This record gives sequence, structure tokens and C-alpha cells, in this order.
Amino acid sequence: MRVLVKNGTIVTASSEYQADILIEDEKIAAIGHNFPGPFDKEIDAAGKYVLPGGVDNHAHFEALNTDGVTTNAGYDTTYVALLGGTTTIVDFCTNEPGMNLVDSVKYRLDVRAKGRVAPDLAIHACCTDYTDETLGELKKLVDMGIPTMKLFLAYRGTPLYMDDTKLLACLEEAAKCGMTMMVHAENPDVLDRHRNGEAEKGHLAPKYHYMTRPPYGEAEAVARSIRFADAMGCPICIVHVSCEEAGEEIRRARAEGKAVIGETCPHYLVLDKSKMDHPDWKTAVRWICSPPLRGQEDRDYLWTALNEDWLSVLGSDNSSIPMYQKEWGWDEEKGCCDFRKVPNGCPGAGDRLNALWTYGVAKGRMTKQKFVDVCCTIPAKINGLYPRKGTIQVGSDADLVIFDPDYQGTITLETNPTGIEYNVYEGLEQIGRAETVLLRGQVVVDQAKYVGFPGQGRFIPGKPYGLGYDLLKK
Ligand code: URP
Ligand code: ZN
Ligand code: ZN
Repeated sequence: MRVLVKNGTIVTASSEYQADILIEDEKIAAIGHNFPGPFDKEIDAAGKYVLPGGVDNHAHFEALNTDGVTTNAGYDTTYVALLGGTTTIVDFCTNEPGMNLVDSVKYRLDVRAKGRVAPDLAIHACCTDYTDETLGELKKLVDMGIPTMKLFLAYRGTPLYMDDTKLLACLEEAAKCGMTMMVHAENPDVLDRHRNGEAEKGHLAPKYHYMTRPPYGEAEAVARSIRFADAMGCPICIVHVSCEEAGEEIRRARAEGKAVIGETCPHYLVLDKSKMDHPDWKTAVRWICSPPLRGQEDRDYLWTALNEDWLSVLGSDNSSIPMYQKEWGWDEEKGCCDFRKVPNGCPGAGDRLNALWTYGVAKGRMTKQKFVDVCCTIPAKINGLYPRKGTIQVGSDADLVIFDPDYQGTITLETNPTGIEYNVYEGLEQIGRAETVLLRGQVVVDQAKYVGFPGQGRFIPGKPYGLGYDLLKK
């Protein structure tokens, strides 16, 4: 199968130039001009940008909810990532009940995900059942193509929670086998103090979610994680950084030469905490995620940090929680919503690129090169997927996004589906969109419509010693 993508402007993390791309089967075979035919397909990208397929560093599909028992929306909703220009999702694998992590990964790939995933798929391990066996599993996971692991320092009282003893042990072991650790950094004592304090006063409405997760609790856990990781010689990625206080810990650590990578998410860059003030609790709970949405000053800071590189990657933190699960927040006895009972998380895999382009590139806040770097290249490097994924070069997988910068619209659930009943960006302006998307040479989005099929996505093993280890060497 020979496909020609012609007349487009190729954008990578370091360049922008006009050239044609010749695809042979699943790979980019050549980049240049005047390729001789015949071609099985020609795609005219005149007036469009040709970007590498997005790599989402942080996507929860069919994942444990923050109650630690139920799961959010499944793999049949992963097509939304392709619609938004993301061709590889890095998903999470928690322990299946009674299973170790190695078997849980096999179960996830061979049973849960089988025949259902639309984009390509890489995996972060996520320990939710720490046993005597766990540390010995890290090297086995790396050998299976899983060189990253996420630990949750928040959500105490659920299987997701990891204490400092386990965190230190995992960091030490991960460093021995080239694994990069990722942490959800919020101090659980700070959360308990504020959450219980407000609840005792009868303050249970959705807005108390953001009021009880203060920046200092996030910053403390970020600082502690960085110190622990540094002491254990393990690179660390602090995921979903939401505020200046936490971001400053990363900036300082980077200035001291510590191997820390910061991730933020589109909802922290674009959406305001006041969403949770909505008088209808069923509406307000849609924006309950952790860390919480913040205010304008934090948003301004995050844009600066992303441009200056101490926040280096944009993950969606997609957590598509259907309304019937969000509505578990209703407390029958009290006759009101109790914010502590609402599963945390927002959908976003489909809107990650749109949000960053609209509010970053189109508003003159970010270059196109930076956009590609944080959405495609850096996440591929962190996860050991580069240069197979995350860039446009000969030999890379032919994952391409033909991006129309002239598109203008308003986000609705119909135009920007999430796989569930709501989109947290609904009503916002959108500039630019993925018009055509190729996954390993196959057209999966055509005229902004999904034309792929479930099961088209493939597990892509990551290599150990990802980007974080380069920082360690400096
Ligand atoms: O609220 C969030 N972020 N939900 C998803 C799970 C997590 O903490 O990453
Ligand atoms: Zn998290
Ligand atoms: Zn997450």
C-alpha cells in the first residue's frame, strides 16, 4: 500500500517546511518532492498543517474510578482520541482483583482491550495492590514494554493510595531497571483536614471540592516526591500539575538539575474552578477532578511554565465518568450532593489538541513547534516510544494529522464526542481541527468523521530509560 500526502506544511517539534510524505504500508518511507507513482491513495493537504499523530501521556479508559471499585468508560470510547488527532494513548493498568501486575497487564491487553481499542495503545502500570511480589514485578513489566508506573499519593482509603514507604521502595526498584515513575501528588492529610472540616460544617456542595484541595497540599506532595525520587536516583514525572505553587517546586528542582518532568492538562489551562459553582449539582459535578480546576492566575502561570519547559508535556487525564456514576454524589440520607462521594475525573482525550491549539497557538501564546513537542514528541520520549511515535521522519509509524487551521466552531457533544453524555468544554470556541488522521498509514478520520474500526489500535511496547533518564545524566 503506497499513500502520498502532498502539498502540506509539515510541522515537527523543531521545524516547519513544505514537503510530500510517501507512506509505504505502515511507515513513513520518504519525505521530499516529486515521488513517482503509482499510489494507492493521494491526500491533498494544501493549506493544511501535517502534524505527527498526538501521543497522550495520560489517559484512563476502563480504569478504576477514584472509589477504587468501579470502572469508568471503556475502550469502545477510545475513538474520540483519534477524532481529536491523538493516535497513541498511554493508558493505565491497575491490578485486577486478586491478580499481580504482570497478569493484570496480560488481562487488560488480551481481554479488556482486545478488539476494542481504536488508536494505538501503550501502558503505564499502576499499583493498586502492593504485595511482597510487587517490587520484583517492575523489571518484568519493563521487559513487557511497560517502562512507566503511576503511584497515587492522594485518595487515601482506596486501593489507589500509596504511602511513602511504598513510594520509596518503588522508586528505588524502578531506577534499577530504567522505569520512570509518575505520581499523583496531593498530600492526603491536607485533603482530609480540609474535606472533613468543611463536611462537619455541612459544606457538601460540589464547590467544596476545589475549596478543600488547596495548592499547598499539591505543592507539598510534589516537593516530597521530587526529593524521594532524587534520593533513589529515579526520574519522576509529576502528572496533572494544576497550579503555580506546585509548578514552582518543579521549576526549582529542574534548576538544581533534578530529573523531574512536569505534566499539565488542557482543563487546567482553559477551564475555571467556578464551573463547580453551578447551581445544578448534576451539572457542577462534571468538573470534579483532582487536583481541582483553579483560577486565572494559576492558568497564566501554567501557560508560562509550559512554554518555558519546566512543564513539558500535555496529558488529557481522560477519565470519562458517565453521568450515572457522577450522580453517586447524591446522599440520600442528607438529601443533598456530597462532593466527597463524586468520582473524580473529566473526559478530554478528544479535546487535548483542540484546546491547546485554540487557546495556545491560535491566540499567539505558543508556537506550533512547542505545540507538537508537548502533545506528541515529549510524551513519546517519556514513554520510550520515540521515534516510532511522536515525530515525522523516515522510518516512523505513519501516524499523521492533517490539521485545518482555518476551522472555526463551537464545541458541542455532537462535534466533539467524549463517549459519554457530556463534554466539559461544551460551548467553548474551537479554532483548528484534525481533518484527516492516519494511523499507521490507514485513514481513520476523514473530513473530521471517524472511519476506523474498533480493534484497529495495537499495543506498542515502550523502551526503558525514557526521557527522564537523559535528565538524570545531565
Ligand atoms: O480526577 C482525576 N484526575 N481522575 C482520574 C484519576 C487520576 O487521579 O488521575
Ligand atoms: Zn491522578
Ligand atoms: Zn489521571
